[in-house]
Amino acid sequence: MRLTVLLLCILSGCFAQFINYDGSKLYQLIPENEEHLEFLDFIQNSERYDFWSETRSLNIPAVVMVKGAALENFWEALTSRGIKFKLLMNNVQRSIDNEKIRQKSSKPVGEGQISFTQYHRYDEIVSYLQRLAVDYPEKVVLEEFGTSYEGRPLYVIKIGSGPSSNPAVLIDGGIHAREWISPAVTLYTIKQLVENESNADMIANVNWVIVVVLNPDGYEYTHTTNRLWRKTRRPGVQCIGVDMNRNFDFHWMGPGTSANECSETFAGPYAFSEPEAQSFAKLAQSMDNIFLYLGVHSYGQWLLYPWGFTTDLPENADELQEVGERVAAAIKSINGTVYVTGTSPNLTYYVSGTTKDWAMGVAGARLSYTIELPGGGNAGFDLPAEKIMSVCEETWPGIIEFYNYIVENTKRM
Ligand SMILES: *[C@@H]1O[C@H](CO)[C@@H](O)[C@H](O)[C@H]1NC(C)=O
Ligand SMILES: *[C@@H]1O[C@H](CO)[C@@H](O)[C@H](O)[C@H]1NC(C)=O
Ligand SMILES: *[C@@H]1O[C@H](CO)[C@@H](O)[C@H](O)[C@H]1NC(C)=O
Ligand SMILES: [Zn+2]
Repeated sequence: MRLTVLLLCILSGCFAQFINYDGSKLYQLIPENEEHLEFLDFIQNSERYDFWSETRSLNIPAVVMVKGAALENFWEALTSRGIKFKLLMNNVQRSIDNEKIRQKSSKPVGEGQISFTQYHRYDEIVSYLQRLAVDYPEKVVLEEFGTSYEGRPLYVIKIGSGPSSNPAVLIDGGIHAREWISPAVTLYTIKQLVENESNADMIANVNWVIVVVLNPDGYEYTHTTNRLWRKTRRPGVQCIGVDMNRNFDFHWMGPGTSANECSETFAGPYAFSEPEAQSFAKLAQSMDNIFLYLGVHSYGQWLLYPWGFTTDLPENADELQEVGERVAAAIKSINGTVYVTGTSPNLTYYVSGTTKDWAMGVAGARLSYTIELPGGGNAGFDLPAEKIMSVCEETWPGIIEFYNYIVENTKRM
């Protein structure tokens, strides 16, 4: 009896509190011709590979994590096709361990406070939002707009001091659990809008509707158990979780998604299978004047606009390109960080059922983007905590530029 329990325990990994990535390596691949791109397309949605940064452009690198068992096949495939590759991390686990040590040594912030020198847990984030709602009732409303699969309340903060007829900006962070810099930048945006008086015009002229962590179950799981978790946490038959950014009901299960439960880009058993995606869609559809939708991700330094499922362009593609370039220039002016603007199929890869396509195609957003923030550490999701502030500070002028465009293009009564 004891032995059986012990064996089950070993098999299910109940002794290993953290999922271990010993033996997994991280590579940079540089596609130099169409055949190389086709190969990347081919392995993109395979469960053996985990793309940390994607590319569909010649000579722009992709970054992929390969598990120990798949390494030999991987090397063979690359060598036989003459694809250039570079080892970025010899042992992914080591960089996870280093980050864990840094996180442990960070000082706790007070109740309702936030800092940009450490990554926060979900309850710390929520307690900050709750404090804002109490301290600034004239411009902040905090609402529960749903519940995650594991029962965590989903919160949206609505910031505005003007009429409800003002144009609206809808932002979400943390849809992909491991992209920790995303909630951090989203929080910084909130802090600037609410707590910095110099930005009063920004909330008088535009209503901001912001979800800091759309996938709290996954986010918490990356803090407690598996740093590299991306998906939601709803169990399937064989594997857990859905890529929520493939789960939206617009060209669902189109190109750039996987029907394999165990893949990192599994689109779900059906569209809106995930309660968090469903709740977010309801929230968006309760708004009738979304000027801008912005999904905050990492990493890659891209500003991507619709469509993701086809190389066809939306009617206002010129506008999307122009605004994207303005935002990229504003970010670059701070510290030289370069963002490239375009559509996913052109720059990275086909993606279907994403928030940005859905926001434009269904929810009627005039502008819609995914921003892929910079990576960090050893070119991973482990952007060192001491760099959070500088990413926030350089991204903020990009948000201001979006705002400027909205104001320039809003008719005054
Ligand atoms: C407040 O906002 C202004 C304008 O965006 C900015 O220049 C300033 O640095 C901000 N102050 C703080 C403390 O972040
Ligand atoms: C994307 O690629 C398609 C097909 O090559 C092209 O027609 C389109 O103009 C490109 N769009 C952008 C934004 O670069
Ligand atoms: C600019 O980059 C340097 C070098 O990475 C960094 O030390 C600095 O904090 C950055 N400044 C801003 C405002 O992002
Ligand atoms: Zn992402």
